[in-house]
Amino acid sequence: MRAQAVTPVQFNPQSRTFRIDASDMTYAFAINERNELQTIYWGRRIASGDPLSVSKAPVRGASFDTPASTTQQEYSGWGGGMYVEPALKITFPDGNRNLVLHYLSHVLSNGGLTVTLKDISQDVFVELNYTVDTATGILGRSAVIINRTKLPLTIEQAASASWNLPRGMDYTLRYLSGRWAAEDTMNEENVRPGKTVLESRRGSTGHQNNPWFAIERGSSDDEEAGQVWFGALSWSGSWSISVEQDQLRQVRVTGGFSTFDFAYRLDPGERLRTPIFYAGYSSNGIGGASRLLHRFEFTKILPHAPEPHLRPIVYDSWEATGFKVDESGQEELAAKAASIGVERFVMDDGWFGQRKDDHAALGDWYVNPEKFPNGLKPLIDKVHSLGMDFGLWVEPEMVNPDSDLYRKHPEWALNFPGMPRSEARNQLVLNLARKDVRDYLFHFLDDLLSKNDIAFLKWDYNRNWSEPGWDAVASDKQKEVYVKYVENLYGILEQLRSKYPHVEIESCSGGGGRVDLGILGYTDEVWPSDNTDPFDRLTIQDGFSYAYAPGVMMAWVTDSPNWVNNRSTSIEYRFLSSMQGSLGVGANLAEWTPADFAKAKEMIETYKHIRETVQRGSLYRLISPQHDSQYSVTESVSLDKKQAILFTFLHSSQKNYPFPRVFFRGLDPDKQYHLRPIGNATKEDAPEVASGRYWMNRGIDVTLRGDFQAAAFLLESEAPQ
Ligand code: DGJ
Repeated sequence: MRAQAVTPVQFNPQSRTFRIDASDMTYAFAINERNELQTIYWGRRIASGDPLSVSKAPVRGASFDTPASTTQQEYSGWGGGMYVEPALKITFPDGNRNLVLHYLSHVLSNGGLTVTLKDISQDVFVELNYTVDTATGILGRSAVIINRTKLPLTIEQAASASWNLPRGMDYTLRYLSGRWAAEDTMNEENVRPGKTVLESRRGSTGHQNNPWFAIERGSSDDEEAGQVWFGALSWSGSWSISVEQDQLRQVRVTGGFSTFDFAYRLDPGERLRTPIFYAGYSSNGIGGASRLLHRFEFTKILPHAPEPHLRPIVYDSWEATGFKVDESGQEELAAKAASIGVERFVMDDGWFGQRKDDHAALGDWYVNPEKFPNGLKPLIDKVHSLGMDFGLWVEPEMVNPDSDLYRKHPEWALNFPGMPRSEARNQLVLNLARKDVRDYLFHFLDDLLSKNDIAFLKWDYNRNWSEPGWDAVASDKQKEVYVKYVENLYGILEQLRSKYPHVEIESCSGGGGRVDLGILGYTDEVWPSDNTDPFDRLTIQDGFSYAYAPGVMMAWVTDSPNWVNNRSTSIEYRFLSSMQGSLGVGANLAEWTPADFAKAKEMIETYKHIRETVQRGSLYRLISPQHDSQYSVTESVSLDKKQAILFTFLHSSQKNYPFPRVFFRGLDPDKQYHLRPIGNATKEDAPEVASGRYWMNRGIDVTLRGDFQAAAFLLESEAPQ
């Protein structure tokens, strides 16, 4: 008998319960007696016949606790006595600010569900959209707010969703924080009464907090153990995620557009769509949570999902030549890059307008005639003749006051009329919410791509907003810049991708200032940090990997001593650090020795052999480098479990302590695996062949001694040729 396909979303009309079962997760909410949508379960998958309904246990409220506030609502308006973070807050033209959203109707579809809520007295409707990824159990939630009244109203806060966790006191929140050149530090703290707000008020995602969270029940040192609820916002503008424990110790996570300085005038008949807030559940600890997210990004988010292209080995000119790019210098670098096995040559900043340094030319996107007297064609042809494709740096959304564009269109920069504008890196932000700015950006990029054989754009964005005024529209429309800017950014990216489907794009914002699930829908990779110190990168990459897949994380090998900390490391250490992500080279190859070239060639060849496993496989963080750890160990296992690669790093030997024994994870216990040390690593007394069971239980002893040492090992179920 053929197994009956079970739709992941079901509605039970008796108990008025919606239930979503996918992968190892069940999510359920019900229409309660007041017609609010109330979360009733989110956790490990339960049996299909198990009863789920609104709890009858009375919440002993005082007159100070209104039901609207104490009920764990899926999506609440600010009204009826809400003291916790509402999902939606509206001011009506007569000053009324009461919004009480009740269930109206729903539509089930194969991949999801739409539930419509309506305010109890006004014709304001909210469509809640739920999507389900059956493979990972990751849900996507967003809201569409519709004004069917006869007058405009102002939305002052609009979240995508509230995620409610089971009532409890033993939760640990993890979140990522940072700054330029120091992104993705992992923070862990108990969820306590009150509210923690993660946010960006900067117009873009920001380096300071990443729109990702994970909440663990208890706090386990074992990455693979414990219950974890996690989520990430798909938005590249100002955002906020609040994690709140109320007075009944109920925990909810509400996120969407930033609540700060937000106002969106919704005219009659208009609708506002929020970004998607994705969330999932793992019963395999934070390690399991990040692997679910990685898989989800590959199969559902990235361009070309479910089969996004593997990342090529890139060379980028930035650290070698800075702004001093010209035809012969770049061609020389390209020849050297090709000799070590690089597949894509990227010319960074400096090729356009009168660009000599960061004081001028952003906005003037013509090829500099002194540096490239015959345009880009000779360089591109040379790169192609060397067997590589060609990539180019752009920073479309910015303008230097010293540029022809600014002299012509000073009104295109974000500004409050007549007020000073704050420059950062000598540049201003173009107001991409404007149609003329959007058209200008699209046309210059279209022109560039149609006239040159370009396979890749590194799309940079080197400052945050200030004075975010938009005086070309009515004063009560000006704050819409926060939404419309990002919508137009996505619009341009989408247009470019459909017109030039072979062109790949990297999201860069002075490093990792614009890394989120929104931009990853339009870009193939991200630049996680300008910090290329291979030791600092261990923590940055570790933090990054909780939310984002190593397959989108570009990591260049650069020169030693590194400019960030003046730290010296061996070329092998630098390669092994970068090989945990998508490998690139950013060193000044003109200064490399023959030994450097030989080592680079060997490591790049090895990387090509393991690339699919690192980029697409299952990542296990065996020892985290966070919190000043002396060690860092990661392992990637291919999806078919035939290959595993182990990267081990030692900060400094102390008191002659040996390196802790390392136990592989995620192997097939019954497969036989051959061990192969990479580079200078030695296998010491480890066997050449043993079962997955052996490598996972007996483990391997790594003999690293000294400062900034690294070794890598490959396990393969087929004997090496
Ligand atoms: C910041 C980027 O992160 C760097 O890699 C480089 O492209 C510079 N901008 C160029 O100005």
